[in-house]
Amino acid sequence: MLTAEKNERLTRVGPGTPMGELLRRYWWPIATHDMATRVPVKRRLLGEDLVLYRDGSGTVGLLAEQCPHRRAALWLGCTEDVGLRCGYHGWRFDADGRCLEQPGEPADSTFKDRIRATSYPVQELGGLVFAYLGPQPAPELPRYDLFVWDDAWRDIGHAYPRPQADGRCRAFPRDRSHRHSAAGAAAHGGRHAVRLPQPAYRGRTHPRKRSAIAERQGL
Ligand code: FES
Repeated sequence: MLTAEKNERLTRVGPGTPMGELLRRYWWPIATHDMATRVPVKRRLLGEDLVLYRDGSGTVGLLAEQCPHRRAALWLGCTEDVGLRCGYHGWRFDADGRCLEQPGEPADSTFKDRIRATSYPVQELGGLVFAYLGPQPAPELPRYDLFVWDDAWRDIGHAYPRPQADGRCRAFPRDRSHRHSAAGAAAHGGRHAVRLPQPAYRGRTHPRKRSAIAERQGL
């Protein structure tokens, strides 16, 4: 049986923890392609709260959830042609975390040049958005065949962990790679141990919806 210390060491995945540092050497799926829209969404990966969005130019950005100014939640902001604008005082950030605009500052102020939001690289592949939270340079995102086959059906659903009363996670529906592993727990915040005797599935995607997805992906 694991000691409390070993258990702590193996299950904590936040920044600065041994497992967190290890897992930050990999790309992680953080959303499906259709979740990255002009409406920012909250995501949680490896114990970090993040905001994912797609701006008007089509660039997908992933920033730390809290604005570097007064810590407002950036997912309450709005996307612009370039970047994401905080809903509190209107600072605007691009996908690299650069501050592009500070409406409350004089026009000739250079204050924005010294401000940086925490940002992470993202890549879209095979209908998913992958994020890398580790040190640079980032490794190449593996182009596994199921992500790049051009003559395949990709049936991508959304999976939401459902914490039970005991704090455990019941299932990651439709997520075969994570269903039986702790990786799913890590990817979704690292809080839950996975115990899945009876995985719960949502119904299969309706064929019409599948063809719409395939059409969108140009298959
Ligand atoms: S808190 Fe975001 S701009 Fe002030």
